Amino acid sequence: METTQTQTDAPVTDIRDVGKHDGQAVTIKGWLYNMRESGKLLFPIFRDGSGTIQGVVPKNQAPEAFEALKGLTQESSVIVVGKIRADKRAPGGYEMDVVSVQIVQKVPENDPYPITPKEHGTEFLMDHRHLWVRSQRQASILRIRAEIIKAARDFFDERGFTLTDPPILTPAACEGTTTLFPVDYFEEQAYLTQSGQLYIEATAMALGKVYSFGPTFRAEKSKTRRHLTEFWMVEPEVAYLELDGLMELAENFISFIVGRVLERRRKDLEVTGRDIAKLETVKAPFPRMTYDEAVKMLHEGFEKKALETKFEYGGDFGSPDETYISSQFDRPVMVHRYPAKVKAFYMEPDPKDATKALCVDVLAPEGYGEIIGGSQRMGSYEKLLERIHEHQLPEEAFKWYLDLRKYGGVPHSGFGMGIERAVAWICGLDHVRETIPFPRMLNKIYP
Ligand code: 4AD
Ligand code: MG
Repeated sequence: METTQTQTDAPVTDIRDVGKHDGQAVTIKGWLYNMRESGKLLFPIFRDGSGTIQGVVPKNQAPEAFEALKGLTQESSVIVVGKIRADKRAPGGYEMDVVSVQIVQKVPENDPYPITPKEHGTEFLMDHRHLWVRSQRQASILRIRAEIIKAARDFFDERGFTLTDPPILTPAACEGTTTLFPVDYFEEQAYLTQSGQLYIEATAMALGKVYSFGPTFRAEKSKTRRHLTEFWMVEPEVAYLELDGLMELAENFISFIVGRVLERRRKDLEVTGRDIAKLETVKAPFPRMTYDEAVKMLHEGFEKKALETKFEYGGDFGSPDETYISSQFDRPVMVHRYPAKVKAFYMEPDPKDATKALCVDVLAPEGYGEIIGGSQRMGSYEKLLERIHEHQLPEEAFKWYLDLRKYGGVPHSGFGMGIERAVAWICGLDHVRETIPFPRMLNKIYP
């Protein structure tokens, strides 16, 4: 790094804030994003993480800056001083008349930045994910992700929920034994958590309304656009809450998050190319239907030839089924009371039909599928123990969980929303791999 000082006392400004300095000189610390050269004029585009701005550098007016920038390689880091000038034609509404440039680190000419403004294949971009995150589109997605997380936390914080962090290293399964990541824990077998749920059921009995937000892991062998092996889940859990109340919580939660992103991240949504009108209809209440009603809808879809295969009653929905159901509505749809046998061991049976579970999946519109899964939890000690045996889970590891049904058990419910599924839907992305800085997927752990 060169040690030259910035030559002026022009205040350091984020590009997003240049509008506050119209007509003044400012300092921008960032990178050269791109540059157009036209004889004795350079039009560099600078980025600093908060936005981009085009500079104008006429050779006769700023000869030193012109020489420093001419031929400068893409993504070289620079500290730029220049005067901000409103310009209606500029994307952000402002341009910069560059006065001086300090090159912090120059990208070597014989080893240029690998991601050029031309098209690249997904595999190439994924292998260069550490650099790809610098693109405007990826940066916008990451800002929206951060906004969704903030909104989720604000929603619960403002409604009397306490954040309680469950462990990541756990002795047993929560969501089925086929997707566990084993860890050697001082010669004992442990696993990376699939969900914080079982533990926040305990903290809900202590604090009433709780939530967790953290990484969760599934050794998914499936290569789909919805599955990651490491993803972040937000999970509320509430004492004395039953399925109807849970569905209300879920629809208010999603409406709040979408509203917040529309309010604060509209520009970023535009960068991702999202059809914003499709988000504006997302307001509670959401349509609700039972599994049986959803199956009826699928059978009608098959008769109308909108579906290729006839859904077999009793099974879990596949993604074409979820896509078909959700395409019938302009907002998320809540499907409740699935057959107990396709769902997790801990769900309360429906008192009207014990073959069904008091559970709900929230399916996002436009084919995004399940974004929330939740349920009322099994209340009875004996029935829960029976389920643990049926699912061949180690009883020893669930002793503490059974205690919750012995010492002041109450009806309680909760759900989990995968942050990446929510980001993919809200940003309108084809694949969850772009929703997280460094996705972990089947056969993908680099970079
Ligand atoms: O439906 P799931 O498996 O439910 C649970 O884990 C419950 N214990 C949650 C609870 O009731 N507290 O997962 C919940 C959500 C899904 O709806 C989906 O959004 C996301 O987590 N999810 C995944 N996201 C990305 N990749 C995967 N492999 C995911 N598996 C689940
Ligand atoms: Mg689920």
